[in-house]
Amino acid sequence: MTTKRLDLTIPADSDLPPGIARCPGPSTKDVIARDGVAPPSTLLDASYRFLGDADIPYARYTSQAFYDREIERMWSRTWQWACREEHIPKVGDYVVYDVGPYSALVIRTDPATIRAFVNSCPHRGMQFCDAATHGSGKQFLRCPFHGMSWHLDGSLREIPCRWDFPHVDEATFRLTELPIGTWNGFVFVNFDRDAPPLDAHLEVLPAHFAEWQLQDRYVSLHMAKVLPGNWKMVIEGFLEAYHVLATHPEGLRTAGDANAQYDIYGRHVTRFLHTIGYPSPHLPKQPTEAELFAYLGHDPATLPDGASAREQHAALMRKRLSTEMDVDLSNVSTTQMLDSIEYHLFPNACFFPGINIPLVYRFRPIDVDHCLHEILWLKPVPKHGPRPKPADVIQLGIDDSYKTVPAFVATGLAHVLDQDTENFHRQRAGIKASFKTGQTLGNYQEARIRRFHATLDEYLG
Ligand code: FES
Ligand SMILES: [Fe+2]
Repeated sequence: MTTKRLDLTIPADSDLPPGIARCPGPSTKDVIARDGVAPPSTLLDASYRFLGDADIPYARYTSQAFYDREIERMWSRTWQWACREEHIPKVGDYVVYDVGPYSALVIRTDPATIRAFVNSCPHRGMQFCDAATHGSGKQFLRCPFHGMSWHLDGSLREIPCRWDFPHVDEATFRLTELPIGTWNGFVFVNFDRDAPPLDAHLEVLPAHFAEWQLQDRYVSLHMAKVLPGNWKMVIEGFLEAYHVLATHPEGLRTAGDANAQYDIYGRHVTRFLHTIGYPSPHLPKQPTEAELFAYLGHDPATLPDGASAREQHAALMRKRLSTEMDVDLSNVSTTQMLDSIEYHLFPNACFFPGINIPLVYRFRPIDVDHCLHEILWLKPVPKHGPRPKPADVIQLGIDDSYKTVPAFVATGLAHVLDQDTENFHRQRAGIKASFKTGQTLGNYQEARIRRFHATLDEYLG
């Protein structure tokens, strides 16, 4: 590794076509291609297209009319993951999934079947179960208002005082069933009964995640926090590493940021890859391997001669986590062990297949100015003993620090997420105060945000 300072400036009058400029120095691809335990080919793949450079109007984040249109035209007809299969392992287990006014009751109806029903009684509209609740042991669905009930397959079971409803046809007085699909341990629902199949929505995800079996993970931590911002503004804060320089500067010594890779696949899936265990190109002086090894928390004297700090760090982590988690990580690629690998699935989910960063995010709007951000930590299922039960949800209010959750502090990310939350307060206020009409995005590092808005427009169109 050199010690010279990189020149990160590209002249403003560069002749390069827009979107082609990249951070000087080694790219993420250069770094992971040299890893001792090689990455899967999908991580050496790149997929970027220039999608324009017009400002993204701020009204998209502040207008009630725009928000209402999203509810009516997008949330009503896009695939969203509602729960994990592990949340409903037994017949009669259920989860209520809500977004905006829509509510689905997702229930296991036999050992191999999961169904979703509109959470509204066909009689007079009562919700069968309260929003955001879950439970078990349902043999049938009984409405708490007048006691009508339905079998788990959605067919009518009983109407009290049946004599008063001669006009009700049992064949049609069924629960309204919604399309569902499963992928990698996640149960997806769509509020559009004519929705195209989930597979079409997932685009490259099944192929890329063939290497990473998230159904063999379990939810070891689950937090839900109200965040101060429009749901899109908040998601966007997690789609780029450009902000690491100013927001998380303490991470620069061990995180690739300006040289992160951004990929756009189809309409629904985008990705970033940024290295952890490799220094930022922004550092005034690139560290030696021994210095980097020390930054990664090790005694530099223990780095074998000629060894790569990144590789040695990954090797030590493989050994430690294999024991701690009772799994075999010996063949896991260095990049999957260390790096921040994030796939965004439109509209509201991010999946990180990494081992050290095994996150899943889900974002849902609360109102124009607030959203709910859920963070799940997905650990590999141990080789021995029963499958651990998924963690209960820890609710965090808008002013609660992530540092109040010891298990999240232990991941090292609580401080980072608190820093992101501070940004959201300020950005929400700044957007409203702006005399400018929209935000100006970088062509490459913020390209995923542009794709996200283009796809949203297709739904709203
Ligand atoms: S509203 Fe459900 S039984 Fe009356
Ligand atoms: Fe951040």
